[in-house]
Amino acid sequence: MFAAQSGDASHHGQNGNLSTGDATHSTLAEVEELDFSKLLEKPRLLNIERQRSCDERSLHELSMTISPHISRTENIGYRLAAEHLDFGQHSPRRSGFNTPRSPFEPHPIVGEAWEALRRSLVHFRGQPVGTIAALDTSDEKLNYDQVFVRDFVPSALAFLMNGEPEIVKNFILKTLRLQSWEKKIDRFQLGEGVMPASFKVLHDPIRNNETLMADFGESAIGRVAPVDSGFWWIILLRAYTKSTGDTSLADLPECQKGMRLILSLCLSEGFDTFPTLLCADGCCMIDRRMGVYGYPIEIQALFFMALRCALVLLKQDVEGKEFVERIVKRLHALSFHMRSYFWIDLKQLNDIYRYKTEEYSHTALNKFNVMPDSLPEWIFDFMPTRGGYFIGNVSPARMDFRWFCLGNCVAILSSLATPEQSMAIMDLIESRWEELVGEMPLKVCYPALESHDWRIVTGCDPKNTRWSYHNGGSWPVLLWLLTAACIKTGRPQIARRAIELAESRLLKDSWPEYYDGKLGRYIGKQSRKFQTWSIAGYLVARMMLDDPSHLGMVALEEDKQMKPLIRRSNSWTF
Ligand code: GLC
Repeated sequence: MFAAQSGDASHHGQNGNLSTGDATHSTLAEVEELDFSKLLEKPRLLNIERQRSCDERSLHELSMTISPHISRTENIGYRLAAEHLDFGQHSPRRSGFNTPRSPFEPHPIVGEAWEALRRSLVHFRGQPVGTIAALDTSDEKLNYDQVFVRDFVPSALAFLMNGEPEIVKNFILKTLRLQSWEKKIDRFQLGEGVMPASFKVLHDPIRNNETLMADFGESAIGRVAPVDSGFWWIILLRAYTKSTGDTSLADLPECQKGMRLILSLCLSEGFDTFPTLLCADGCCMIDRRMGVYGYPIEIQALFFMALRCALVLLKQDVEGKEFVERIVKRLHALSFHMRSYFWIDLKQLNDIYRYKTEEYSHTALNKFNVMPDSLPEWIFDFMPTRGGYFIGNVSPARMDFRWFCLGNCVAILSSLATPEQSMAIMDLIESRWEELVGEMPLKVCYPALESHDWRIVTGCDPKNTRWSYHNGGSWPVLLWLLTAACIKTGRPQIARRAIELAESRLLKDSWPEYYDGKLGRYIGKQSRKFQTWSIAGYLVARMMLDDPSHLGMVALEEDKQMKPLIRRSNSWTF
């Protein structure tokens, strides 16, 4: 744990020039008429003046055309302004308490969720800078009393959607200052660009002083640096910029530098033969040994998304230009690699099943020398006739066929997945609803590792026993990612079903961190209560479903230059 003793003067309030003016407001009637594809075609009224090499403008137009501030209750936050945006299929919405509600009445747990989210706010020298991971009052706090970068993302999105961008700006600047600390684990110095996994505000009642402590992996269980933190930081910076129209934050020289430092870490040349990013186990949301070392899908999808966001945010000055060129090249190679080698569907599965091995030369079909015998039994039943997904990992002679929720949703949001692949992922979720959603959304991965596999892969981790925690547990936070993916693919009815399941239990169960069991029926064995990202994840999902224009904050449209392997029919409107 690193502690700052002084000099952490904040940058708050600089250039806080929010520009979501009246011109961006649509009337409710307009909102009601639109479906998502139409929203995408609306001209942008507010402009972020930046040269973009990626084709990401129209999603920007979407978020700028319809403001998040349609209507709002005082401090419980959001009102269901766009309840009528229903995209066709309709399941009548009922509250968790079985009371019929008028379309403009927020779900009863929305107010409670906002109150719980506000209770989790962490202040530093008088300003809100983040949200605590869990407000659990149990003794075993571990590090849940800290502000985690990845955990703060759904909180940040909730605040942005609710028209409260200041805390997000404070967080972005504060974590940027932490990045500039000298980071050492034992005698080894970490890369300059590493962002912390988490930080904490320390109060000194005697000196009446506050200082920050940050963890870059040196205190974390397993001592792994968080590879995802830097990516989430860039993604959040774009979400802030997009939602507020305020480019001045991203344009600050220190923000530009912070981005370049993160990018240097992952764009550096080495011995790699793949464009994917090599990492240690436990360097992302799954932060314990779970066999996610190598090239895990979560990191690759976040890497892709962060690269695309950086492309939008980087200034094309002397320093920025070099990065832009490297990013564009990497994106091309990365999307090709992921779309070709990580993708599995019935046909691909059958091809692997019939693979020959020991093929030498560039004409090899089985490029990574995967042994068909390594195909796990479960996948033959799990694979639907329609549908597919990005598998967990691909490296020499090793394919991890497990389904990971976060990576697949981010692949959809970032357009790492082609439109066909995105649709196929949604088809899979629909046809494997019981396995992936069950009674509580959403399985972090599927299936669970059991007996021998559990022993070897997790190292006998008692927290990660089968169908618990990271090993096939159900995490409500993933609801916001699912909802965003559903809206992007034009299938909000899937999100609606999942949200209703969550609404029937989350408040009653005091917002658990995760649920256990094949169907996610039981509150997790060691699950925290009042886990902030469960609360914020629900709110973001709810707000996005009620006003799909929020999607632009977290989604990027397909980049036509990336030439997907399969072209979609003309009906695709992105
Ligand atoms: C757990 C999760 C991790 C999260 C942290 C704080 O360790 O695995 O993803 O950031 O809790 O909530």
